[in-house]
Amino acid sequence: MRRYLVAGNWKMNGTLASAQELARAVAEGVPDESSQVDVLICPAFPHLAGVKEAVGNARVRVGAQNAYHEKPGAYTGEVALEMLVDLGIDAVILGHSERRHVLKETDELINRKVRAALEQKLQVVLCVGELLSEREASQTEAVLDRQMEGGLNGVDASQMNQIVVAYEPVWAIGTGHTATPDQAQAAHAHLRNWLSSRYNPAVAEGMQILYGGSVKPDNAAELLAQPDVDGALVGGASLKPELFQPIIQAAVDAAQ
Ligand code: PGA
Repeated sequence: MRRYLVAGNWKMNGTLASAQELARAVAEGVPDESSQVDVLICPAFPHLAGVKEAVGNARVRVGAQNAYHEKPGAYTGEVALEMLVDLGIDAVILGHSERRHVLKETDELINRKVRAALEQKLQVVLCVGELLSEREASQTEAVLDRQMEGGLNGVDASQMNQIVVAYEPVWAIGTGHTATPDQAQAAHAHLRNWLSSRYNPAVAEGMQILYGGSVKPDNAAELLAQPDVDGALVGGASLKPELFQPIIQAAVDAAQ
């Protein structure tokens, strides 16, 4: 059986003090190993070291929201994967829709980052998802295929245990319009089938596929109850312990 992962994407929010306070609250409520639920929090770059320290030995992983694929050097304003490793960071989100659509990252760039992150032995949360216009034009599956093919180009089956896929329909992110459990399940099943044919059934079976897009305490349980939904990537609700904690609890309940 697959474990669940509940990840918090804090985006460009908070102060060092508020990020550390939030991290401590998450650490206090983290379920134990036997729950089959893991928790990942992803603060902004300047807060990573402080959050790592605040989490201490608690069973909470800390991830970055992005990184640059080149080796450390003359890349003004960028952050190298090696720097994340140096801080003891566990994971990195790549291909988030805000990076694709606001920062104009292409599948090719995302792929470079994915491969470099795998080389550094970081866990990669690879985000994919369609725009509303693409869904309305019945292109959801074609978009997902293109983003998976592009993002995982050159990644072989032996590296896939370092990857987590997050399905995040762009129209559901930060909008309060969550995908219905059926819509999420359909997309997740499609992604799992894609993994099975591109790799093999064992890779597909083992892959954690998270749903993201307006996950809240009141919709988490039904989303997490879907057979191919293995966790959540949570934005807005991950900034408030009173909202994030019930989502983690929904995963603990779903895992039983
Ligand atoms: P949201 O963000 O939960 O605020 O919709 C999700 C995400 O962007 O990862």
